[in-house]
Amino acid sequence: MRNEMHEDTPALLSPALLSTVQRHAAEWFSSLGSRPVRATLTADQLRQQLGGPLPLEGMDPEALTNTLATAGMQGTVASAGPRYFGFVVGGTLPAALAADWLVSTWDQNSGIYVLSPLVSVIEQIAGSWLRELAGLPPTMSCGFVTGCQMANFTSLAAARHRVLANAGWDVEANGLFGAPPIHVVVGEEAHYTISMALRLLGLGANRVHKIPTDSQGRMRADALADNVRTHQGPCIVCAQAGNVNTGAVDPLVEIAALAKERGAWLHVDGAFGLWAAASPAHSHLVRGIELADSIATDAHKWLNVPYDCGIVFCADELAHRSAMSLAAAYIVATGSERDPHEFVPEESRRARAVPVYAAIRSLGRQGLAEMVERNCRQARRFADALRAAGHQVLNEVVLNQVLVSFGTPEQTRRTIAAIQEDGTCWCGGTVWKNQTAMRISVSNWSTTDADVDQSIAAILRVAQQVTR
Ligand SMILES: Cc1ncc(COP(=O)(O)O)c(C=O)c1O
Repeated sequence: MRNEMHEDTPALLSPALLSTVQRHAAEWFSSLGSRPVRATLTADQLRQQLGGPLPLEGMDPEALTNTLATAGMQGTVASAGPRYFGFVVGGTLPAALAADWLVSTWDQNSGIYVLSPLVSVIEQIAGSWLRELAGLPPTMSCGFVTGCQMANFTSLAAARHRVLANAGWDVEANGLFGAPPIHVVVGEEAHYTISMALRLLGLGANRVHKIPTDSQGRMRADALADNVRTHQGPCIVCAQAGNVNTGAVDPLVEIAALAKERGAWLHVDGAFGLWAAASPAHSHLVRGIELADSIATDAHKWLNVPYDCGIVFCADELAHRSAMSLAAAYIVATGSERDPHEFVPEESRRARAVPVYAAIRSLGRQGLAEMVERNCRQARRFADALRAAGHQVLNEVVLNQVLVSFGTPEQTRRTIAAIQEDGTCWCGGTVWKNQTAMRISVSNWSTTDADVDQSIAAILRVAQQVTR
């Protein structure tokens, strides 16, 4: 009966369109290693190719795919490729990308179990594997969101629920008007997405206690101890595993002890630093993260799944659910099975856990550890070579981040612009402790030592031209 129906059903994606997409994808991948890393079309050129008046009539999907793919070849940045070292941007593992294509094909709404039993179960499996990989308590609840920004938001919503509930206040019902004040404590190097989360939650980006940091951007535990003794009442402490510039991790064991003593909720932003926990050689750096009440991380960074995917973990499942869950008459609560929307701000949502599942399944524990260790070793390779050539490395290279100065601020800025224009690789800039620096982040599964050496040679060549 079903098969008979299938014969009459029009193909949603014709074989011709499928093979067109496949051909473009193959061309894109084979270009990644050799094309300029930067985009080679300007915004005006892209507008010219893709814009124009709103079309009255529709376009054939195959012709449309060809148009997009042609613009995409030059208008994109090869940030998925092996020589992209900007921001903290991972590529995409083959199995994770293939899984993501299945996600698009299936078009599942993974908000509730009845809409997609498969996704609900995969979220559970991926969540438990992630906890095991990171050495987190198996009882932590977990949600899959768009990125670490939303993971920070979700974590701090759970924190806000718990600290106010402990003070006898129902924030979900009554909002913040008349609520007991919350002391939010952050390191002065907290990522700006923490500020955004605080803004969205009505806690105020500037209404925080800022704790001084050390030379690597780590929150100073002694200063935190002094601070938390100056106030009472509801309190949330935000620590960080992986400073976006240096890669340094806050002293989490000491911070966790202080938060516990103070009766505070401890949140850790581990956007990329959490992945150090998956490597026996680096897990000591994030020791204490398992003591946090909530943790935010990204899978689209170091786990190398396609955009977008962040993950939130929460030790207090009740607070997590209370902050996030919704009720409506037509939502069929599934009782014994997991409804993914109860752990995230979104209702209808993409099946983000599926590529995460595929990434972990394809790498295994050993493969993930090896990838993290290789990228860290490659970061040290950059640092050693640039230092040996007389340039100043500004940070202790403990993880996958390297900061380099090429002389004066102007010389460094010009070297960054020159390497981006050169196109061999892509590195961004930053200002670290008042020094202008090139920022190199090694986060891609496909980066080889040869890619690193080729990039070092290009950086040294353009730096020499700039300083000549
Ligand atoms: C420490 C830290 N937190 C949060 C974020 C925000 O992550 P996303 O852009 O995925 O939301 C980043 C991004 O680089 C980060 O490094």
